[in-house]
Amino acid sequence: MSEHEQDRNAVISRVLEERKHQPGALLPILHGIQDVLGYIPREAIAQIAQALNLSRAEIHGVVSFYHHFRTSPPGRHTVYLCRAESCQSMGANQLVEHAKAKLGVDFHETTRDGAFTLEPIYCLGNCACSPAMMIDEEVYGRVTPKRFEEVVRTVKEAA
Ligand code: FES
Repeated sequence: MSEHEQDRNAVISRVLEERKHQPGALLPILHGIQDVLGYIPREAIAQIAQALNLSRAEIHGVVSFYHHFRTSPPGRHTVYLCRAESCQSMGANQLVEHAKAKLGVDFHETTRDGAFTLEPIYCLGNCACSPAMMIDEEVYGRVTPKRFEEVVRTVKEAA
């Protein structure tokens, strides 16, 4: 077993130990694992099922129901595109289509090079500068398709 796998399994075991006796433990466990690892590994599903005496299918059902949970590692950067009302009225839908085409992914997916994961978000509190997006912690306003490409290129080159 690699060092990475050992670390990952240690995280899963620790979160299970801390939370498995809570009422409704499944969601807190899933959040706990994803908060540390960035995703829910396949191996975690088997361990959670065993600890909570549930079937793997039940765990999968919950993980796939909530878009928040991911089952593969996220990209090095996460691009959040605002889908809320103000941004929509200022062209967010076209921006979303452009971003998906440029990155070659749908929402909740990661680019093949592992650089970007694309996620929707519902209001970044930057409505005055709609349409808005956030990459990692940085918020950008008045994002045109051209500006989107520039920012994405800059973020990627800075990595
Ligand atoms: S609606 Fe997009 S930032 Fe508020």
